[in-house]
Order: sequence, then C-alpha cells, then structure tokens
Amino acid sequence: MSEKLFNPLEYPICLEFPLWLEETAWAEHIPFAMFLVAALRPRVLVELGAYRGVSYCAFCQAVKSLKTETKCYAVDTWQGDAHAGLLEENVLTKLQAHHNPLYADFSRLVQSTFDEALKHFAENSIDLLHIDGFHTYEAVKHDFQTWLPKMSERGIVLFHDTNVRERDFGVWRFWAELKEKYPHFEFLHGHGLGVLAVGTKIPNELRFLFETDETETKLLRAFFYQFGSRIDAVQTFHAQQNYIKSLQTYEQIVQNSRTMRIYRILKDEGFGSWVKKGTNEFSRNK
Ligand SMILES: C[S@@+](CC[C@H](N)C(=O)[O-])C[C@H]1O[C@@H](n2cnc3c(N)ncnc32)[C@H](O)[C@@H]1O
Repeated sequence: MSEKLFNPLEYPICLEFPLWLEETAWAEHIPFAMFLVAALRPRVLVELGAYRGVSYCAFCQAVKSLKTETKCYAVDTWQGDAHAGLLEENVLTKLQAHHNPLYADFSRLVQSTFDEALKHFAENSIDLLHIDGFHTYEAVKHDFQTWLPKMSERGIVLFHDTNVRERDFGVWRFWAELKEKYPHFEFLHGHGLGVLAVGTKIPNELRFLFETDETETKLLRAFFYQFGSRIDAVQTFHAQQNYIKSLQTYEQIVQNSRTMRIYRILKDEGFGSWVKKGTNEFSRNK
C-alpha cells in the first residue's frame, strides 16, 4: 500500500479536453499524460514518434495550461514505418498549423531520425521521454538504450503499445525485461502504456504509482481508463464522420464520372435497357 495515494481533485488538468484530436491509438491516455506533466513538472520532455501529434500536443497543452516552463521536443521523420504505414503527405504541415501558433515558444517539431537527434540532447537532461516509434522488440530496445544516458535523475520513460500482441510488435517483451529492473506501472487499455522510473529521485507526487498494491492498481487503471474513454469516443466519432464523408465523395466522383454521364444521356434517349444489357454482358465475359 502506498503512503500517499493519488487524489484526482488535486489534478483538475485531467479533465481538460484535448485541443488536438486526430485519429490515434493514444487518445485514451491523454488524461494520464496531463496528470504526469502536473506531477513531474519536467524541465525537458522528448517524444520519439509523434505522427499526427495527438500525444505530443496533449503534453504541450498541459505544459501551457500549468505553466511548467518545460522545453518540449517531438522527434519524427514524418515518413512512417512498417507499422504506421506511409504517412499522409501533408501530415506535418497540418500539425505545424495547429502546433506552432500555440506552442512554438517552448516546443519544437524536430524532423529527424531518433538516432540523428540524439546529439542535440545533453546527458542527464531529459525528465520525461515518451517512446512511441517503431514497435518491434529490437527497435524499442534500441531506442531505450540509446536515449537512457540522456535521462535525468528524475527520469520517467513512457512506452506505448506494451499490451499489443500481434504481428511483430515486441514492446510487451521488452517491457517484461524492464519491469525486473526498474520501478514501474502499466495501464492495459489503449494498447497499453508502460511508465518506468529510470531516475533515482522520483518526485513525491509520483511515488504512489510505483508502490501500489493490487487493489490500488485496479482502481488507478479503472480511473484513467474511464477518463480516457470519453476522449476516445469523440475521436472514434470524428473518424467515422470522416469515413462517411469520404464515401460521399467517392459516390460523388462515380456520379460525376464520364461513363455515368454517357449512361444518363443514353437513358434519357431511351437506350437504358440496351446499355444495361451491354454492361451485364461485359461483366459476365470479364
Ligand atoms: C505510432 S506513430 C506515433 C503515434 C503518436 N505518438 C500518436 O499520438 O498517435 C510512430 C511514428 O514514429 C515514427 N518513427 C518510427 N521510427 C522512427 C525513427 N527511427 N526515427 C524517426 N521517426 C520514427 C514514424 O514516422 C511514425 O510517425
């Protein structure tokens, strides 16, 4: 049993709704991300793998709301990988349009590989690192090991996808190894989020997370799952609306196509059944 448990009333930031919500598997973790900024008040925060920027902008939003004076960096090639696929052409431009006016005074979107970005960060300087790049065992292990020397004595590392057991995702396997060596907490919802204390001086406000008994663990998981699921529901609703819009656009394209226009003219001229017969014949012989 931990000495001081988490009191949600001390962290109203958990109730903030994200200003930036695109399609993502991360939406359910936003209340925890905001809580973490409040409890850790990181001096430097780095995210490896930002894509559309949902997790990263949630961190930035909390930094701005809470005035924590954190310097933030998102590192990504914005080219995608074998798991995320090839990214949309304008994904970075769209993210910049939201991010720059709100957060450019304390945050940078760094277009680079994780390895190339390493040299820009001093040893023992990062308080909060979020690893959400390529999710094979080898890639996650490499990202952790290369960035570990950059972590400060208050260092916390987040791992997304600790609970994905499909294709060649291997975060869960690496997470099982890390759990043996460091204080940790794991959320199982939203593909899983691992919280690892790599520093030796973890702030009092965060200690409870690494000292919970079974009942507290269940309660904390349930609490953040409930808080996060309302955000995920909105995100899913937006995604479905976009899908319907894309279907409507497709239907519009078909309706406006040259073939459809010729068909309509022929139908108006009384050749409808003739065209239909021809089309059926064509499909049968294909
Ligand atoms: C799962 S997505 C990140 C999702 C994001 N955190 C969110 O909130 O939805 C992974 C991203 O990592 C990037 N990435 C993967 N490996 C990388 C590497 N070695 N260097 C730079 N970017 C990388 C990809 O381009 C992709 O945008």
